[in-house]
This record gives sequence, C-alpha cells and structure tokens, in this order.
Amino acid sequence: MTNNEIRKDFSILKNLDIAYLDSGATTQKPNQVINAVQKYFENENANPHRGAYDLSIAATQVYDESKAKVAKFINAKSSNEIIYTRNSTESLNLIAYSYGMNNLNKNDKIVISIMEHHSNLVTWQNVCKKTGASLEYMYTDDNYELSDEEIKAKIVPGVKIVAVTQVSNVLGTINDIKKIAKRAHEVGAIIVVDAAQSAPHMKIDLQDLNADFLVFSGHKMLAPMGIGVLYGKEEILNKMEPFNFGGDMIEYVYEQDTIYANPPMKFEAGTQNVNGAVGLSAAIDYLENISMKNVEKIESELLKYAYEEISKLDFIKIYGPKQIEKRAAVIAFNVKNVHSHDVSTILNNSGVCIRSGHHCAQPLHRKLKMESTCRASFYIYNTKEDIDRLIDGLKNVQKIFSKYM
Ligand code: ALA
Repeated sequence: MTNNEIRKDFSILKNLDIAYLDSGATTQKPNQVINAVQKYFENENANPHRGAYDLSIAATQVYDESKAKVAKFINAKSSNEIIYTRNSTESLNLIAYSYGMNNLNKNDKIVISIMEHHSNLVTWQNVCKKTGASLEYMYTDDNYELSDEEIKAKIVPGVKIVAVTQVSNVLGTINDIKKIAKRAHEVGAIIVVDAAQSAPHMKIDLQDLNADFLVFSGHKMLAPMGIGVLYGKEEILNKMEPFNFGGDMIEYVYEQDTIYANPPMKFEAGTQNVNGAVGLSAAIDYLENISMKNVEKIESELLKYAYEEISKLDFIKIYGPKQIEKRAAVIAFNVKNVHSHDVSTILNNSGVCIRSGHHCAQPLHRKLKMESTCRASFYIYNTKEDIDRLIDGLKNVQKIFSKYM
C-alpha cells in the first residue's frame, strides 16, 4: 500500500484542506478504527468481567482479544504482561509509583537521558524526591545521540532504574535500546522504555530488546485517545504493589484486608476502557495490514524528502542526527530570528499543522540552547504534497520576516 492509498481511509484529511504534520502529538484515525468503535457501541457495549450475561461476555471477549493483539504486536510472551492505562504518561506513573517508590532508597540512582519527554522525567524526579535516590542524565553528543562512552559512564553499579525513550519526540534520534538494556542489566538495573514515539513507527520485538517495561499510547498510532499500554515482564509485575485500588483488581476483600488479583487485573482498578481497547485493536489490524516494514519505508521516504527540502532553506537550522537512517520521521527546526510560535501561526494560515514550543522537553531545549523549536512529524498518510506545502509556508515566513533575517 502507498501513502496515497492509505490517505483515502482518513476522512478528516478529505474533509479539511490541511497538511497535518503533527502526528508526534496525535495521529488521525482511519475509518476502520472509527467504524470498529461505532460497531462496538452498537453491538457489544457492556461492562466487562462483571456480568454473566452474553453482552458482558462479548465486551470481555473484545477487551481480552485486544490485549492478545497488543502482546503479539510487540512480541510479549503473554497478554498477562499487558496492562491498559490512559496513555504513556499514566503507564510511566504506574511504574514510578508501584516499582520506583517501593524499590529505591537514598543510595540508589535513576538514569534517564536529556532527551526525555517530561512524562519520563518529572515522574522520576518525584521518585527521587520521595526516596532520596539521585537522578542522573545521559547527555547527547554532537550528533544528538547517546554515545557508547556516555552509556557506559552513566549506567554504573548503584543504578537501579534506567528510563529512556526509544525515539526522541524532538530530535528524532533513535536510541539503541538493546544496547542500553544490556548495559542496564549488567549493572543490576531494570530498564523502562518510552516507546510513545517508536511503537507507531517501527517494529517492536520485546524478546530482542529485553526491556523490563515498555510503554506507549494508542492515540499516537491511529487509535482513540484514552488508551495506553504498559508492558511489564510478568515476574516483575507479580512482585509489584497495585497503583490504583478498587473494583476488579481484587480476588477477595475483607473488612481489614484484601487479596489482590493477579496481573494484569491487579493494575486495572475500575471499569476498563473497552471502546479504547477496541479502537487500539483495529489500529493494530490496520498497521499490520500495511505491515510495519512498509510503515517504516513510507516514513523514511517522507523523512528523506522533507529533510532534503528543508535543508535547502538557508534561513533554517535543523536539529537531530544528520544521517536519515539514525532518525525517525520527526524534524525539529528553527527559522533564523523568528519565534517558533510565529512560524506555526503563519503556517497555520496556509493549512499547515506543526507543533511549536518546547514539546514537553524543557531540559533538552535548555541544554541545547534552543529556546523553543518548530516540529514537523510525519505518518503513513502524509504525502510529498504535504511537505511541499510546508516548504512553501516556510518561504512565506521568510518573506514576512525578511528584514529581521
Ligand atoms: N507527547 C506529544 C508530543 O510530543 C504530545 O507532541
């Protein structure tokens, strides 16, 4: 399938005259996902796990099938290792509270990278504040990557948790998770992987990566907002305390004590987001029908074209690795002497949607002395025409601000 064929499945891109280049923030939804959610509400909606009647059983079934699909999609050993949350942020909070708060003390260290999204940074700051552990950073080299030396120098004995993104939501840098996981395990740490910007775009194989935890959000991979994934190795989940307490996470409740359910239910208190699970299931079907290999191919062609075209504009500075193969389909840049919000406002006038600001990565911006950046991020429904519209829009920005450049 080509991106032009894929695009036809996205009604919003037919209904609106836009070049949507903000899929790093959230993706548009294909009709197949929208229809699957509608079909669920029209035929299968009930509270799962609680009713002995057919409709509740049907809701339970679609919910459980969705988890089995996610487990297969990322090559987890079992769907018992898949917990549904609201999004990556909630998944990371669950790990921070249930694992971090209970397993760290003041002599321990947590290592993250400077390119972390606030969700994988503020969460660990909080664990450090509460436990007395210290927070250390792996910094990027001149090519905006984590060097082998940096990984070795920072992940040392005493480190208990390494939390790192697989793809930077700003720089597009693809981190070598397998290598970082190996180093983390050598020093006795666990590794938490933020796959929010990678799972939608590349094949994830957990047996190969050997991550202990991995998180991602449905809404960044064609599914509705409000459904997120937390993968955790079963032996670790079994030992963890619950995060939320209430209905459906228990086996037996007594006046003064409770026997919790086994994972994953132990971590899913309250009524589950079945419609979100159905949407995620349909999104995975959609991606697998295209094949993740083809997703990668479409995106790398778009990235190459965009990178080359933006590079021709001498009034623009691009951030992130210089080699296309080292980066995902995200380009952060700045227009000389023009604030990123002004750039995105002008682009919006011609229907080009990009994100501007700090992209929930303030320490990264501060470290790299970028006050803020513009960010164009691509997905399978984007075309070269979208990129041409971006380039025309940027030329227009230059025209408007020419006397300041
Ligand atoms: N985390 C999303 C982004 O990077 C919102 O844009």
